[in-house]
Amino acid sequence: MPNDSRLGFGLLGTGLIAPFHAKAMRASNLARLVGAADLDAARLAKFVAEFKCKAYASLDEMLLDPEVHVVSILTPNHLHVEAALKVARAGKHVLVEKPPAMSLREVDKMQKVCAAAGVKIGVVLQCRTRRAVQAIRKTILEGRFGRILHADAYMKWFRSFAYYQSDAWRMQQRWGAGVTIQQAFHYIDLLQYLVGPVKQVRAHMTNLAHPNMPIEDTALAFVTYQNGAQGVVQASTALWPGTDIRIEVNGEFGTAIMVGERIDTWKFKDERPEDEEIRHYGSAAVATGATGAAALGFHDHQAVIEDMVAAIASGREPMITLASVRPTLEWALAMYLSAKQDAAVDLPLAEEHDVW
Ligand SMILES: NC(=O)c1ccc[n+]([C@@H]2O[C@H](COP(=O)([O-])OP(=O)(O)OC[C@H]3O[C@@H](n4cnc5c(N)ncnc54)[C@H](O)[C@@H]3O)[C@@H](O)[C@H]2O)c1
Repeated sequence: MPNDSRLGFGLLGTGLIAPFHAKAMRASNLARLVGAADLDAARLAKFVAEFKCKAYASLDEMLLDPEVHVVSILTPNHLHVEAALKVARAGKHVLVEKPPAMSLREVDKMQKVCAAAGVKIGVVLQCRTRRAVQAIRKTILEGRFGRILHADAYMKWFRSFAYYQSDAWRMQQRWGAGVTIQQAFHYIDLLQYLVGPVKQVRAHMTNLAHPNMPIEDTALAFVTYQNGAQGVVQASTALWPGTDIRIEVNGEFGTAIMVGERIDTWKFKDERPEDEEIRHYGSAAVATGATGAAALGFHDHQAVIEDMVAAIASGREPMITLASVRPTLEWALAMYLSAKQDAAVDLPLAEEHDVW
């Protein structure tokens, strides 16, 4: 389209999450889907037909297209790092799905290569953009909670065996298929974003309802934050039919609870006029992934994509920087280490352990 000022995106991977990116761009005045690549030719053909964009034979071919300014990496978790380095070295910006990588070493390499290439790297942890999350964060920073005493994430979700069978990587621990690094990563990230960093983690992992799968479908952790608060992470994909996540923050002077994407409880000793409006933030009608991987809205993705465009246009960093996600990955890795060693693990991790 001539005179189209929208920034061009290429998608690497046209699996489950790709349509959410494509729909977000279809709804956006800032971003445009130029094309996609996938090793699975049938999947790619179906995707480009539906979203009317170019099909590239490979990432290399996508990187040669001058219309592509940002590459969104939507491949399985263990493949993110290799693609991100290639994209950055080609001088294109990187938007990478969560988790950005499988180790801190990989994250540091991605950071270094993107900085050297002068390109932006943003991470898709779209829950951070929710109004409810932003309200809780602002209120914490304003000090209205007083001392934070507790901060918890409860994710009682369901994923069928068919979901795990749908792609080979979904059953591989070292490819990032377990509930901790795959689904719960979003909510560990929210706790980290709101109340982190974390001082100590004690985790327990099990497989409750997906027999013969070599990954955890359930994780529990007790957490001590550096600011002295305590917390619990309870995450599962075993709990049919799956209910909305809960993020709970309790301070000396107030309590906030988000359920799904909406504020469920908002109570402070210093009630303010804006509180009544905040109590209506978010909607129970918006699906947030509880019952299936595709039971999800695309508006949070749109917010992340549009923030990336604005960051590139203005030269600022994206809202969800790789550096801000590093401690989330460290926390998730610490949970795996703790479960493996059957012991509490202190953070920051003294050195990179081989978690996998
Ligand atoms: N933000 C969210 O809410 C959310 C939700 C689901 C998945 N994700 C993330 O998105 C990523 C993809 O997950 P998914 O569920 O779509 O996986 P998927 O398996 O459905 O899709 C991945 C696609 O990548 C393709 N692929 C693999 N290697 C490739 C390569 N070298 N070049 C081109 N294509 C390649 C595969 O053929 C497949 O079609 C993961 O990192 C996952 O954690 C994020």
